[in-house]
Amino acid sequence: MSNDLDSTPRVGILISGRGSNMMALVDSGIDVAIVVSDRPDAAGLDWARNRGLTVFALSPKGIGKAAYERAVDAALREAGVGVIALAGYMRLLSDDFVARWRGQIVNIHPSLLPRYKGLDTHARAIAAGDAAGGCSVHAVTEELDGGEVLGQSAVPIEPGDTPDTLAARVLAAEHALYPRVLKEFLSR
Ligand code: GRF
Repeated sequence: MSNDLDSTPRVGILISGRGSNMMALVDSGIDVAIVVSDRPDAAGLDWARNRGLTVFALSPKGIGKAAYERAVDAALREAGVGVIALAGYMRLLSDDFVARWRGQIVNIHPSLLPRYKGLDTHARAIAAGDAAGGCSVHAVTEELDGGEVLGQSAVPIEPGDTPDTLAARVLAAEHALYPRVLKEFLSR
């Protein structure tokens, strides 16, 4: 945990769904100050609540993106967050939000960047005949999946793989990679 003698930033995790990467980060001992979701029904929120974590859930629907992001920003700052970790967060952050947290946001993306930015990464890797897929932890900038790559993990693509079987293999690699790379990022 953070204390006066420890300057390691506290982490705010943003999720949209099941939250398995969030679980891996929490279980690794990283000091998570708050879990935020743009979907109040995200499955990962119940897990976070059961762990006693502070949770903030708000949908942008109805209030608009600018008001939504202002509320998220306020919740993160109120919780004392220094670094934001996106973990299956399926919404694009505005340039303004990214600028306010410049150098303080990281994301995990299920491909070996710079290959396959955006969606459907596993289907695209299989269709291309790649020998390997994988995942990347990267710094978040205004360019989608375009910031500095902080760490990567490759897994083989096996004959007969479907996007789902490959996704499962990559997800296991994500759960090992993200805590390790985020800890390095927090201590630099
Ligand atoms: C992960 O594959 C992550 O790389 C991608 O979305 C998925 C989220 O899974 N951005 P989870 O919510 O962490 O279980």
